Amino acid sequence: MKKLSVIAIVSSAAFLMQACGDDVQRKPSRVYMPDMAYSVAYETYSDYHSRLGDSIFYNARPVAGTVKRGEEAYHYEMLADTTGSYDKSAAMKNPLPQMDAEQLTEAERLYLVNCGVCHGQKLDGNGPLYKGGEGPYPAAPANFIDPKAGGGKYYAMAEGTMFHSITYGKNLMGSYASQVTPKQRWMIVSYIKSKQALQTAQSTPVAAAAAAAPAAKDTTKK
Ligand code: HEC
Repeated sequence: MKKLSVIAIVSSAAFLMQACGDDVQRKPSRVYMPDMAYSVAYETYSDYHSRLGDSIFYNARPVAGTVKRGEEAYHYEMLADTTGSYDKSAAMKNPLPQMDAEQLTEAERLYLVNCGVCHGQKLDGNGPLYKGGEGPYPAAPANFIDPKAGGGKYYAMAEGTMFHSITYGKNLMGSYASQVTPKQRWMIVSYIKSKQALQTAQSTPVAAAAAAAPAAKDTTKK
């Protein structure tokens, strides 16, 4: 009787161990009712092709012409009419209130991280990727700080147009929509505009005197 139970224990242990073996995992048995084992609804990164065929294609992009909740309706208009969208963008107003010093610092950081490599730390269109034509990037990026650059168009450029170009790209500049959120885009635009305003202030005699005054104070402190 004892012998029998020993045999039973050993053989059932062997059976169980065999069930855990590699062999079994490599050759899974048939799935009964696969709908229960695998979700029919396709998931973001799941291998749906093998099961659903090629009829459903998920490319992680929003459906053309749709707007994310909370996103400006501007996108909808732009997508609906891509031909005149560049000109229309000038009418778009920057929704952000005047930035404080902290926000300006953050805007500068965003600019330096995303744009400075081409447009330059000084906004002079001469970042390390371009380097006056010697860098690896072939096209001259816009010079935002020289009032005469591009026939003065970057000083005259509406904030909405800048936003549009960052969102959809312009000629050789690609879209930065996936790198910077709409709010961050407006912050960067405000930053560029604030730098331009500072440059204008410094180059007009009266304002230059005013701007020089604090600097003079600084030197006396030293
Ligand atoms: C890889 C280099 C590169 C980067 C990075 C880059 N740009 Fe540009 N950008 C360009 C070039 C080149 C042009 C000139 C395009 C033209 O007018 O042909 C340009 C033009 C522009 C213009 C003027 C567009 C117009 O309507 O004429 C704006 C505004 C601008 N860039 C903003 C940005 C901002 C903001 C960022 C960062 C989020 C950025 N760019 C990042 C290369 C770059």
